[in-house]
Amino acid sequence: MLDLQGKKILVTGASSGIGKDIAILLSKLGARVIITGRDRERLNQTSALLGDKEMHLAIIADMDAEADIKALVEKIEKLNGAVFCAGIIEYSPVKFLSKEKINKVLSVNFVSQALLTQALLKEKKIERQSSLVYISSVSSKLGVAGTAAYAASKAALSAFAKVLATELAGQKIRVNSLSPGIVKTPMTEGADSAIAGDDMKEDEKKYPLGYGNTIDVANYVAFLLSDNSSWITGSDLVMDGGFTLN
Ligand SMILES: NC(=O)c1ccc[n+]([C@@H]2O[C@H](COP(=O)([O-])OP(=O)(O)OC[C@H]3O[C@@H](n4cnc5c(N)ncnc54)[C@H](OP(=O)(O)O)[C@@H]3O)[C@@H](O)[C@H]2O)c1
Repeated sequence: MLDLQGKKILVTGASSGIGKDIAILLSKLGARVIITGRDRERLNQTSALLGDKEMHLAIIADMDAEADIKALVEKIEKLNGAVFCAGIIEYSPVKFLSKEKINKVLSVNFVSQALLTQALLKEKKIERQSSLVYISSVSSKLGVAGTAAYAASKAALSAFAKVLATELAGQKIRVNSLSPGIVKTPMTEGADSAIAGDDMKEDEKKYPLGYGNTIDVANYVAFLLSDNSSWITGSDLVMDGGFTLN
């Protein structure tokens, strides 16, 4: 059994999809969870599902705003773990990508995660023996048309996590990333045709185990945050129901 009692864990992107289910599971496993996102109403909905209201904390922050990152870091106590899950997707063939679009995706998916990490470290908000988990994407390893900016942002995130794993090993802080294939969330539901041509049901057949559910990702993240994974650092697990087997 995984036990996260006594651990304080930050989850970004907790107002929706994967981050929301991660926060819920971590709270069930006994962690004190600090959740963040931009949308107050949806973040409150996550809060309401965390059980003991006094135990957890919800903070509104836009990862694309450095002032918000600074304020977030000031408000939180020392952590035993963090899950960097906030992210956006942009579908566009390279021919039609603009500097603004590329910058936006890189900013939210990579630069902000790097700056938040740096601020947490500088302000000494990460305890020794903590675990940091970055939600990357299997897109970072593939060549799916229309995903260049997104794939590049996630490749940067995975590479960042690997380097950080080396830099923080001396403090026994573990750093891992996770590269899921398609998981059913508002992000993918809202982008049927962009992801899968016209038919997601047809596309799902390329996944031997079908598309993933948020709990599939949450279960593995909880393991990475627990002491059960104390010898795992620098990994980037592909979790895709067998999509990339062939
Ligand atoms: N679903 C998939 O198939 C899949 C596959 C591989 C990887 N991923 C990755 O998993 C993560 C979660 O995706 P999801 O599918 O759960 O998407 P989602 O349901 O759209 O959730 C995205 C989350 O990111 C937050 N977010 C976006 N921009 C933000 C910003 N500027 N500042 C703060 N928070 C921001 C959103 O919060 P607010 O709206 O409240 O700001 C929301 O909580 C993303 O990093 C995504 O790239 C997803």
